[in-house]
Parts: sequence; structure tokens; C-alpha cells
Amino acid sequence: MSNKSLVSIADYSKQEILAILESAADFELTPNRKTLDGKVIATLFFEPSTRTRLSFETAVIRLGGSIIGFSDAATSSSSKGETLNDTIHMVSCYADAIVMRHPLEGAARYAAEVSPVPIINAGDGANQHPSQTLLDLYSIFKTQGTLENLNLCLVGDLKYGRTVHSLLMAMSHFNPSFRFIAPEELKMPEEYKVFCRKKGIKFSETSELNENFDDADILYMTRVQKERFLDLMEYERVKNVYTLKNEMLANSKTNLRILHPLPRVNEIDPDVDSNEKAYYFQQAQNGLYVRQAILSKVFR
Ligand code: CP
Repeated sequence: MSNKSLVSIADYSKQEILAILESAADFELTPNRKTLDGKVIATLFFEPSTRTRLSFETAVIRLGGSIIGFSDAATSSSSKGETLNDTIHMVSCYADAIVMRHPLEGAARYAAEVSPVPIINAGDGANQHPSQTLLDLYSIFKTQGTLENLNLCLVGDLKYGRTVHSLLMAMSHFNPSFRFIAPEELKMPEEYKVFCRKKGIKFSETSELNENFDDADILYMTRVQKERFLDLMEYERVKNVYTLKNEMLANSKTNLRILHPLPRVNEIDPDVDSNEKAYYFQQAQNGLYVRQAILSKVFR
């Protein structure tokens, strides 16, 4: 495995995370730099994406590199039965690094183990989405001025939502307090609660959204991950469980910022978009600078 791979947010130390955020701030000031001159980056998306793929590809272009890849696995030879092992071996003959999204948990780790070139995990099933987490941290830092001692409410699909799993692990470096707001069917998995207990991180759980984020610094909304449900009837039961509306923000702290990895379906009413506490579109824009920082670190 290339030690330049980014498979899990746990692959980066606190110092490495902070260095990425510092580097992202530099890229925000000066986005066009040729740190990837002559490099070819493959983007292999076995699952749909708008933000992650396009921001990684924009990052490569702004850094002077070139892109190959696919945005739909149906157009690749995996649809003919080619294994992930063979696909990774072939693509590593052409590219200097691979950005990959895959529906199977652990696919990125497996790819990193068989690949001679660095793998950047762009999301593997319900497991991890480390580049999203780094842009979430960058957004939190930009809006709060610190990552330390913050109250975060994580809302929605905490079972299948990979972004909240990665975020929880990353924030563990910064003495957070969490409130997990989810229906019974989508509660935070036990392994992450065990992780919090081991690290001495405070958390509470509730299924009620209203008024339960009034003391929060960050309200992190998530989509119910339809594509992860084995039973679509269960999805139908929980799909509209929370919708954040503007009026619900009346008693929230002035420094509260609302984050969402996007895409949203109906968990944030459009009437929230014009509230100054809504930060999800800027958050997605921050993804470009953070992914420039991640790619530059791979080739440093
Ligand atoms: N946040 C995120 O991963 O968005 P996409 O699925 O559009 O890449």
C-alpha cells in the first residue's frame, strides 16, 4: 500500500489534518498553481457524485494535472465482470494516483493494498468519506475560528451516513460534545459510541430535532441514504423524518452554522437557504481548496 493513500480519516494525524487546513487556506487565496504538472489522476466513480468528483477534477485542472476515468461504472469493464483488483492494476498503469468512490465498505482499503499508486477514498459505502471530512473541518474552522470544544448536533441518517462517521473520528482530536439526533432505525452505530466512550468524548442521543440544537455551534444535517437500504419499505417509513425550517432556528446561537454534505432531498427546507446560518453551499465550495491540498500532499 502506498503510504500516500488517504483511505480513512484515521490515516491522518491531528498535525496532518491541521496542515491540510492551512494548505487549503493558501489554495483559497491562490487556487491556480502547478503542483500536479505532468501528473495524470484517475477518477473512478462506481457510485454517482456531483460535488466530490467535480471538485476533485477541478482541483486537478487548477493544479495543472490531467484527468482520466469514469463517472458511471456501467461504462467501464467492471460491468463485464472485471474485478476491482484488475481494474486498479490496469488504471495504475496509466495514472499517478486514483480517486475512487465505491459502494462497498472497505473497497478503498482493498484498492490501496493492491495499488502501486496512491488511492484517495472518495466514499466507500457507509464507511468513510475522508475528503468530505477535511472540507467539513475546514468549514467548521472558518465559521467558528476554532475546532476546539465545540457542540455538534449530527442529524438524520447516522447509521448509513459515512460523512458523520468520518467527522466524529476527526473531531475526536478537538474535545467535542456531540448530540446524535436520529430515529431508532438510523441511530449512530454502536462502534462509534464505543469509540467516543474510549476517547472520553461526551455525547447524548435523541430522536427529536426541535429545540435540541439550541446550544449547538454546528448543526450537521444529513440525507437518508436510500441507496443503502435493503428494505425500501423501511426507507419509506423514515425518509421524511426531519425537515429543518427557518422558524426552528429562532432560538439558536448566533454562531450556529448549518452544514450538510449535500445532496439534500427534503431535510432542509429551501426557506433556510437565505438564513445567514446556512453554510452548506460555501461548505461545498470549500471542498475545492481542501481537495487541492489533499492532492498536493500526495505528490509532495
Ligand atoms: N457530499 C458528497 O459526497 O456529494 P456528492 O455525492 O455529490 O459527491
